[in-house]
Amino acid sequence: MIANKYLLLISFLVCSYGIVAYAQDEGEEERVYDYAGENHQCIKCHGHKTFHYYNENLDREFRDRMNPYFIIDSVEYYSSNHWNFSCFDCHSYDYSNFPHPAELRLEPKPGCLDCHGGDDTYEDRSWERIDEEFQKSVHSTKHSEDFTCSMCHNPHSYKINARTNDNIKQTIQYDNGICLSCHADINKYQLIVDFVNPNVLETHAWLPNQALHWQNVRCIECHAEIKEDMLIAHNIQPKEKAVKRCVECHSENSILLASLYKYQVKENRNKLGFFNAAILNNSYIIGANRNYYLNLISLVIFGMVVIVIGIHATIRFIRK
Ligand code: HEC
Ligand code: HEC
Ligand code: HEC
Ligand code: HEC
Ligand code: HEC
Ligand code: HEC
Ligand code: HEC
Repeated sequence: MIANKYLLLISFLVCSYGIVAYAQDEGEEERVYDYAGENHQCIKCHGHKTFHYYNENLDREFRDRMNPYFIIDSVEYYSSNHWNFSCFDCHSYDYSNFPHPAELRLEPKPGCLDCHGGDDTYEDRSWERIDEEFQKSVHSTKHSEDFTCSMCHNPHSYKINARTNDNIKQTIQYDNGICLSCHADINKYQLIVDFVNPNVLETHAWLPNQALHWQNVRCIECHAEIKEDMLIAHNIQPKEKAVKRCVECHSENSILLASLYKYQVKENRNKLGFFNAAILNNSYIIGANRNYYLNLISLVIFGMVVIVIGIHATIRFIRK
């Protein structure tokens, strides 16, 4: 009983320390949007479901609906990694004309590696390694022409997450959203293939308590080959190689430590010291929560309690 109370107290203290430490990281620097004005000439149409333009030949205003797939959410755009980009950094100046010249449709658009290849500023993102792994993935080997990085990373909205977001649940939701944007949307899926996308809920019917699992693990935990030196594994394996054994996660050396919690464990060690990190990490996954340090602490506390009782008993005995 007493040991349990101590455990509760200790975990409470550790948690509040964690929360305070995270809260201190929150504040973001003021941003100056250099291209907001320039981009407005595009956003005024591409930011809305309807747009209007002036036709000089007919000398009148026209209203029309925007193709929903060509709508750029300006809020997402200005909070994405490329928030301080002009549309013209990636698109031709000729888009200033409307109607857009027809030949622009065939204009090749820049891929991530065109700019980030040999990128020293964010070297630890390991762009080239990601590219290599991606080339080996099922998506790329089966559909090398059509399947590009931007199928998963919308250049107008992608925001780096796992590395920068301390809220693991949000990262899980964000990362799964990337896969589901296609695996749960036939229209995007059929940009790649002719057949209908298999229903994700049905193909994972063997997994109990699906809703809970979708909130607590990412698709890539089970589907991507884990690499020691990379934060985000990019080699999506054929379905036969997917993780199906429960103990891969529900055990003390859960694969989640090498993927989902990888960065947190590393960071927390820096922020909070190894001891606290070991207590903080993944102490809630059933099966994986037999934490060595928690066990050790409770043993020590139990030992101390026994000693105190022993001393107490001895003193009473002597007094008698
Ligand atoms: C007057 C409204 C309007 C303005 C202003 C406008 N666009 Fe468009 N844009 C459209 C419409 C409508 C389409 C779809 C029809 C088409 O392709 O012409 C489109 C299509 C596009 C496409 C997709 C072409 C394709 O088929 O893949 C791109 C890229 C694009 N616009 C970029 C821009 C950029 C960059 C700017 C700003 C310099 C801009 N647009 C300004 C209305 C506009
Ligand atoms: C970092 C590069 C980059 C920037 C900056 C950028 N785009 Fe794009 N844009 C792309 C790429 C790459 C594609 C092709 C996406 C694909 O193939 O899925 C694209 C496609 C589009 C399309 C076609 C619809 C689509 O999503 O495929 C429109 C419309 C568009 N961009 C408008 C804009 C506007 C407007 C801006 C500025 C507010 C802008 N883009 C800024 C890289 C960029
Ligand atoms: C036109 C060149 C260009 C293209 C194309 C481009 N980027 Fe970037 N990207 C940059 C630059 C420059 C920065 C640095 C911006 C800054 O520091 O504010 C950046 C920043 C980033 C960052 C933030 C770095 C970090 O880790 O905090 C990520 C992530 C990123 N880009 C991913 C992508 C992805 C994924 C693609 C392909 C879909 C892509 N970029 C395409 C030029 C580009
Ligand atoms: C099948 C989907 C998919 C494809 C294709 C894909 N990625 Fe990713 N990528 C992800 C997911 C999911 C994440 C995790 C997002 C997050 O939490 O930041 C990610 C993360 C990243 C990161 C952040 C890594 C870090 O260490 O923080 C970079 C950079 C990146 N991808 C670049 C690329 C490049 C370049 C390509 C193409 C060669 C590519 N990705 C193709 C799904 C994909
Ligand atoms: C707990 C591990 C696990 C998670 C999490 C998981 N999967 Fe799977 N997935 C599997 C396994 C195992 C199979 C192979 C099923 C079989 O052979 O019966 C599979 C099969 C698939 C298939 C192939 C279906 C078919 O029959 O063609 C797709 C696509 C897929 N998963 C996508 C996803 C997506 C998207 C997510 C995230 C929303 C996800 N998976 C999350 C383990 C997982
Ligand atoms: C742009 C659409 C798109 C996105 C985004 C996407 N996929 Fe897929 N994926 C496909 C298509 C299409 C196939 C079927 C390829 C085929 O069989 O020809 C597929 C196949 C698969 C398969 C089954 C491979 C097999 O052996 O049959 C798995 C597993 C899978 N995807 C997982 C993922 C995961 C995990 C993510 C997110 C990190 C993801 N996908 C993101 C389109 C997508
Ligand atoms: C990719 C890792 C992973 C795999 C594989 C996995 N699980 Fe889980 N499971 C989790 C996580 C994470 C949770 C969430 C724990 C929590 O929040 O309670 C969870 C939760 C559960 C729960 C709910 C526990 C509760 O608190 O209600 C059950 C039951 C469960 N898993 C059973 C299974 C079974 C059976 C399998 C094999 C068929 C399996 N899991 C495979 C990671 C996994």
